[in-house]
Amino acid sequence: MSDNTDAPLLVAARGGVPSRTPVWFMRQAGRSLPEYRALREGTSMLDACMDPEMVCEITLQPVRRHDVDGAILFSDIVVPLKAAGVDLDIVPGTGPVVAKPITGRGDVDALPVLEAHQVRPVADAIGLLNAALGDVPLIGFAGAPFTLASYLVEGGPSKHHERTKALMHADPDLWHALLGRIADITAEFLRVQVEAGVKAVQLFDSWAGALSERDYREFVLPHSARVLGTIDSVPRIHFGVGTGELLPAMREAGADVVGVDWRTPLDVAVRRLRDAAPDLPPPVVQGNLDPALLFAGERALRREIERIVAEGKAAAGHIFNLGHGVLPDTDPDMITKAVEWVHRAG
Ligand code: CP3
Repeated sequence: MSDNTDAPLLVAARGGVPSRTPVWFMRQAGRSLPEYRALREGTSMLDACMDPEMVCEITLQPVRRHDVDGAILFSDIVVPLKAAGVDLDIVPGTGPVVAKPITGRGDVDALPVLEAHQVRPVADAIGLLNAALGDVPLIGFAGAPFTLASYLVEGGPSKHHERTKALMHADPDLWHALLGRIADITAEFLRVQVEAGVKAVQLFDSWAGALSERDYREFVLPHSARVLGTIDSVPRIHFGVGTGELLPAMREAGADVVGVDWRTPLDVAVRRLRDAAPDLPPPVVQGNLDPALLFAGERALRREIERIVAEGKAAAGHIFNLGHGVLPDTDPDMITKAVEWVHRAG
């Protein structure tokens, strides 16, 4: 096992000058790969996430194919909830579905605490991966309290998050109690991953962009900050979708790297982050190719990649990624080419 300190992804995350622009893709493991679909045949998503050999193999598949600079642990944001005892499932084509959505104080009080042994298979998978990955750093992750709360309160995926926002505003005490309980689970899940040897972590607050900055600061930031504040030994990436207005607040929550989706050009994101916090070190960003561009043909894709690499030069460090996850119908050969073009452009 190497300590990977010179790995481009970790150098960029620290704001240093890497040997090449590091690139990895959210959802690089998964349905875009035929070898993934073959391996997952007959195994449910949540069972797969608790099988160390399968997690290891699925995590390695995109690394073998694409020459990416980071491996993202194959798991899901609801894995620690399920492991702790919350009755939920991941329904193919839909996403996480919770059997008994949270509506009142009794449900919040009944939320379980996560114990490390309950996610032992994830730690075991990380051990296997570190032995197999060589110099490519393994990125661990967890869902942020708000995004997990949305699934628990709505009972499943939601377009408008109306029950979640209603709870937040109608009963702020209950809301903060709920986010506090989820933050404990998230922090423990990340602690287990860091102790098992992940080299960076990403906190996914995928749906935070649904909130105003005011609501984000009041109802979400303190809990995400508590989670991120428990990690001091590896770089922390903080990501959400549609978060152009929230980028400085998400950095303030305690991120070394701020994830940016395709709606905000990276140089604009860097300017916003710098202007909001002139006393902090220059910002490091991750992003932000629109996943749909992987369908647009080689010329358009290459042009976009070159633009994004150029705009990323405004940052102290740039980790190339998509603005959100790889779409299931993506041609994996386009991903391989995209990685090559990022490396050539950077
Ligand atoms: O390669 C990677 O990025 C690592 C794997 C990963 C998965 N889920 C695997 C997965 C990661 C990082 C996640 C995080 C996750 N899960 C998020 C945050 C990231 C984001 O996309 O914003 C969210 C919101 C979830 C919840 C979730 N789980 C959804 C929306 C889905 C898709 C449902 C569907 O079928 O369309 C899942 C299931 C899931 N998680 C799949 C994968 C590969 C698909 C299930 C399958 O292959 O059978």
